[in-house]
Amino acid sequence: MDYPTMHTCLQTLLSRRTIYQFKSTPVAQTILEQALEAATWAPNHGLTEPWHFYVIGRQTQQQLARLYARLRADKRADPGTEAWQEHFDRARERFEAFPRVVFVGQIKTDSPTQQQEDAAAVACAIHNLQLALWSKGVGCQWSTGPLIRAQETRQLLQVPDTVELVAVLYIGWPACMPKSKRTPWQEKTSFLP
Ligand SMILES: Cc1cc2nc3c(=O)[nH]c(=O)nc-3n(C[C@H](O)[C@H](O)[C@H](O)COP(=O)(O)O)c2cc1C
Repeated sequence: MDYPTMHTCLQTLLSRRTIYQFKSTPVAQTILEQALEAATWAPNHGLTEPWHFYVIGRQTQQQLARLYARLRADKRADPGTEAWQEHFDRARERFEAFPRVVFVGQIKTDSPTQQQEDAAAVACAIHNLQLALWSKGVGCQWSTGPLIRAQETRQLLQVPDTVELVAVLYIGWPACMPKSKRTPWQEKTSFLP
């Protein structure tokens, strides 16, 4: 692959990796806002625009950090034990350190067909968002962990009953670049006569 001469959009697509560790350097508001705008330009059938983004401020992030830490510690140790407290403290510190946190909601519909198409549109929006960030050098981890299903999260974010939380995005400048792999596209493609 000839990366230096590749169109920058393709370069962004091919080089993007999920980022799990971030520098403490803040992400400028303009970068985040451009990425949110890019998200809203995702394709969506019938222009349902089935997304809502919840950009978390410091105070809410601290409240969420305690919830995130409790959910993680509960999964790994018995409450009241030293091990539980260690998991809790580590997880809380990790969550508080994320430079930016954005939750993504999908607006509910009674139509199963629209629900499926809207889910695809929201995934496109999330990917637009992370690619827009990546084009500026900013990384993202797309997570569907237990935090998005916790009732307390919905209360903290004041998510209405008409919206389902489908992702949380952890955003920041990459501290390291993980490796990933893919099956060669040729093995996933059939050319028909
Ligand atoms: C719908 C969806 C849900 C995901 N949920 C998680 C998650 O809960 N935790 C996580 O670490 N990564 C999650 N990821 C990121 C994938 O693990 C990641 O894309 C995959 O490992 C490939 O790595 P890459 O993005 O660097 O190519 C999710 C990705 C998608 C599309």
